[in-house]
Amino acid sequence: MISKATIDTVFETARVEEVIGDFVNLKRAGSNWKGLSPFSEERSPSFMVSPAKGIWKDFSSGKGGNSVAFLMEHSHFTYPEAIRYLAKKYNIEIEETEQTDEEKAITDVRESMYLVSEYAKTYFNNTLLNSEEGKAIGYSYFKERGFTNDTIKKFSLGYSPESWDAFTKEALGKGYKLEFLESTGLTIPRDDRPFDRFKGRVMFPIESMSGRVLGFGGRILTNDKKAAKYLNSPESEIYHKSKVLYGIFQAKQSIAKLNNCYLVEGYTDVIQFNQSGIENVVASSGTALTPDQIRLINRLTKNITVLFDGDAAGLRASVRGIDLILEEGMNVKVCTFPDGEDPDSFAKKTSYDDLVLYLETNAKDFIQFKASLLMNEAKNDPIKKADLIRDMVVSISKIPDRIQREIYIQECSRIMDISEQVLHSTLAQLVQKDVVEVGKKQKQEQKAFEIVKNENPFEAEKVDTLGNVEREIIKILLLYGNISEVFEEVLIGTNSEGEVDDLTEQIETKVCQKIYLSLQQDEVEFASILFRNIYNDLINVYLQNESFNLEQYMMHLNPEFAQAIADIIMDDEEHVLHNWQGQNIFPKTKLETLNQFVTDNLFTLRWFLISQFIENSKNSVSREPGADNIGFLTEANDYNGLLKKFSYKTGRVVVRYH
Ligand code: CTP
Ligand code: MN
Repeated sequence: MISKATIDTVFETARVEEVIGDFVNLKRAGSNWKGLSPFSEERSPSFMVSPAKGIWKDFSSGKGGNSVAFLMEHSHFTYPEAIRYLAKKYNIEIEETEQTDEEKAITDVRESMYLVSEYAKTYFNNTLLNSEEGKAIGYSYFKERGFTNDTIKKFSLGYSPESWDAFTKEALGKGYKLEFLESTGLTIPRDDRPFDRFKGRVMFPIESMSGRVLGFGGRILTNDKKAAKYLNSPESEIYHKSKVLYGIFQAKQSIAKLNNCYLVEGYTDVIQFNQSGIENVVASSGTALTPDQIRLINRLTKNITVLFDGDAAGLRASVRGIDLILEEGMNVKVCTFPDGEDPDSFAKKTSYDDLVLYLETNAKDFIQFKASLLMNEAKNDPIKKADLIRDMVVSISKIPDRIQREIYIQECSRIMDISEQVLHSTLAQLVQKDVVEVGKKQKQEQKAFEIVKNENPFEAEKVDTLGNVEREIIKILLLYGNISEVFEEVLIGTNSEGEVDDLTEQIETKVCQKIYLSLQQDEVEFASILFRNIYNDLINVYLQNESFNLEQYMMHLNPEFAQAIADIIMDDEEHVLHNWQGQNIFPKTKLETLNQFVTDNLFTLRWFLISQFIENSKNSVSREPGADNIGFLTEANDYNGLLKKFSYKTGRVVVRYH
């Protein structure tokens, strides 16, 4: 684990505008920076970075947060990956916390395996580009396939010399341990003389989502029918074939941006597509997609287009594997290529425009595609047709969304010329079988729903008002918590005539204290769980520290909080975007009337909650004759009086949000 001290240093050093500036072209806009959203295609900038607050906000997608959140969102790093990336960028040494010996051993082994693999990538690439043999054999092979130097560089393609142990010897000479050369499968153990697994092959490094080398694919260059065309790294501590997708590192940004992922079979399909200008493409490396691989794509997009080689034989079998993708709730399209072509060969001889056009016109919705494909085969064969119907319904039953299932039933009914009723009853039978599984899923959904229901026993519209007040109070705390203001406090005392009365007094208090004490006094808890947690966290920080620095506060937040807070704070900045061409229109600052603003919001919150109590009390009144409703009625009356008094004393109206 990365130590807390390192994480702190990283956060203290990283400048949000510098971190984001590596990916987005930012221009100054007052105290902020603005740019085109990296999360959507747009012409006018809606992406905002606030160096002072250490945060960013993308108004086109609603995303926002601190530097780490940006890297997680944009480059799809995990939290530790983002920290490591920033440490590297700012030359901060990473200190690892104490691990148990066992943990240490595992981390050390994995780290060593990564290092060996990284070295091998460089070695193979060097050999391809700089050695006589590499240039004559490997490089010229790639050239023949039409790969440019840029492409070779982008995918770090390489060559492993045609010799018993050239690579192994070189690696050992460089100090890499035989143990790790063997555990990564780069070297094959043999008592007398361990040897290179990939000798005489061109090399395709297989990288993780964050760009670490996990393993290799090596293609043979001869036409030896006995040897495998492709040889891959064996399963190891770092390489799990079922969990990687070739090309995901190069593709991830494009997949997220274009909100679609092309899935192909082979290494060269991925590479040729990239060279043609289509980057949102990954390969399953010749096998059916696994759930882990689907989830990898699912992190980036819900839409997947499967590209099939143009051989009809493989088609039927491959089509079956696709149910798995439907099960993950993804939208699947399929596209086939002309007979004898695979995505690689087709892309190689087609211009970018034609390729895009081809994909657009030929990509068909999976369910429709499957129905038409199988219908063709089963047209005149009733038994086959019955099978087909069951087959289709199985696919449809995998779709988690009920409405979507319904639409497909209608489609299939049309394509296969069979009544919707029959399809429905077949579906019902299937669903019955799956009932345990489905039941589990639905229960989870229901649970989530119930929590929301219990936490917010208000109508939707009211929740909105409440949410807005809570949001505003958090914003005040974040921006003005430590400012001292004069507030009018209502105290009970005796007036000049000696009668007991409410007296008002001007008292100077810090805004955070005013809010904290008022809410505590009224025993108010925020309805929104997220806001409540943020509020509690913020109040703790204020109570424990003399000073409050928003930027520093943001640094240590978990991504969920950071996103919510960026949202809250950057709200007001949106108008700056609209006026960014220097029209110098700025909103009236809240500071001018801060005390009133604070009081208004606290008042609105109280007013709202009290109205709620009154409502609840009224509802508890029983209409049964002889029922004792005195308690409820008195309660309601008291609250009503309280409300009136509030309005009168403070002379305020309820703040309304739209
Ligand atoms: N594959 C493999 N082992 C093999 C054959 C294939 O791992 N013996 C995987 C590779 O990832 C390969 C993919 O399956 O890229 C698709 O196989 P194939 O269509 O036979 O290869 P192509 O990608 O078309 O390779 P090439 O164009 O170089 O012949
Ligand atoms: Mn091919």
